[in-house]
Amino acid sequence: MTCRVVVLLSGRGSNFQAIAEASLPIEIVAVISNRPQAAGLEYARARGLTAVALDHTQHADREAFDSLLADEVERHQPDLVVLAGYMRILSSAFIARFDGRLLNIHPSLLPMFPGLKTHERALAEGIKIHGCTVHFVTADLDHGPIVIQAAVPVRADDTPATLAARVLQQEHRIYPQAVRWYAEGRLEKKHGHVNLKDDLTSQSVFSTGT
Ligand code: GAR
Repeated sequence: MTCRVVVLLSGRGSNFQAIAEASLPIEIVAVISNRPQAAGLEYARARGLTAVALDHTQHADREAFDSLLADEVERHQPDLVVLAGYMRILSSAFIARFDGRLLNIHPSLLPMFPGLKTHERALAEGIKIHGCTVHFVTADLDHGPIVIQAAVPVRADDTPATLAARVLQQEHRIYPQAVRWYAEGRLEKKHGHVNLKDDLTSQSVFSTGT
């Protein structure tokens, strides 16, 4: 059975694009954005996918907006909900409703640098290895069980932009991989931990060396 995926995004949508183009055993049943102008919605429409804009600025209250959002997501009966640059904190009620079928990508090697401006902060700290993480979402912001990570060496002449670009390349590699494992029934969140079947754990870390 094909895995039904709903994508939530707020902007550019390059991770969504990487997933959409990766020939995975999934059906993207809806792409939903809290920002009506998100480029990711345009791309969804161009691919003939269902694209939904739910403008959060029209709703004063986070709980009320998230409840509406959760109803919209549920309407598409997803097996998996993929956060692909969804730049709003989700309420705990939303997260509980999709527990175990909610994935996020974050541009750092979590638990380092949760939150925003990860590349700037990585450079300011002078760390030598940066990267990105796919994890199950829990109520603890950017701290859910880790599925897969890719490491990217920091160069002496890196700017936030050059570092972000190299990390993004790896994001486009590890997110489709995580979605594939989930769709194939080889990835689950169990008792608060990641369970990767078929001895896939060795494949859940990448190092680019560049
Ligand atoms: C990506 O770098 C993603 O990791 C990050 O936003 C960018 C979205 O780019 N997500 C977060 O920071 C979530 N905390 P995209 O729209 O091109 O996929």
